[in-house]
Amino acid sequence: MTNNQLQNYLEIATEAALAAGAVLQSFCGKLENIQEKGRSGDLVTEADKASEAVILEILGRHVPEHAILAEESGSLGNAASKYLWAIDPLDGTTNYAHQYPFYAVSIGLLIDGLPQIGVIYDPSHNELFRAGKGLGATCNRRAIAVSQSSELRNSLLVTGFAYDRRSTADNNYAEFCHLTHLTQGVRRSGSAALDLAHTACGRLDGYWERGLSPWDVAAGVLIVSEAGGQVTAYDGGAFEMNSGRVLATNGKIHAELSGALLSVPPLSSWK
Ligand code: IPD
Ligand code: CA
Ligand code: CA
Repeated sequence: MTNNQLQNYLEIATEAALAAGAVLQSFCGKLENIQEKGRSGDLVTEADKASEAVILEILGRHVPEHAILAEESGSLGNAASKYLWAIDPLDGTTNYAHQYPFYAVSIGLLIDGLPQIGVIYDPSHNELFRAGKGLGATCNRRAIAVSQSSELRNSLLVTGFAYDRRSTADNNYAEFCHLTHLTQGVRRSGSAALDLAHTACGRLDGYWERGLSPWDVAAGVLIVSEAGGQVTAYDGGAFEMNSGRVLATNGKIHAELSGALLSVPPLSSWK
């Protein structure tokens, strides 16, 4: 893959993300159809579907021979292709449905299973985060880099709670308490894509979460790596796109945060 080819895919992803962001803004505050997708709290709206439709139309025009994994439509296109576009047309649907302006469009391109292009667009703040493998990471076309914090006690982290949180003991609550005590704070933003983007540009020092889908993180993990950060499994081993878990940091606090996640006291110890 030449840099020119990567740049071409980056421009296609950008066209789709900006168009989808405009669709989201056109529906915001005017939703007529908010439904649960099965799991309690997992919402879908007409804006999620309209945003996805515009992304699929643009990809279908530019790269009809590629495979697609889109949150609302599932697997589409040529399943034999080594090119897979992972699409979240609206990451942060709960925020969006409440008109809380923290949501984004996330589009990642995997080639042979590895992230090569990532674009995240936050239409409320008009921030476009982009990365190409080996091309670096940008926000609104300016280079971005991860933060310099080197200790958890000086760090601001972010995490999230998956929709199965009411039905599993592995719900991230104990981790949240533990890290809240060890750091300057742990935020819960409601958009995994923006959590990764904000880690990439140094606003946050680290992010962990479980229960994620490939479309939540495909773009963001590349943007963090290209901004100089580190992305792994909780234990520091290789990140697996289908594992549902990610640990992404500025690199400097990675080992300390990994160690903290592996030694979380039970919730009963906070009594
Ligand atoms: C959700 C958001 C949230 C995270 C959830 C995701 P959605 O995506 O990224 O921050 O905690 O696990 O499912 O449903 O808004 O696209
Ligand atoms: Ca999502
Ligand atoms: Ca979504």
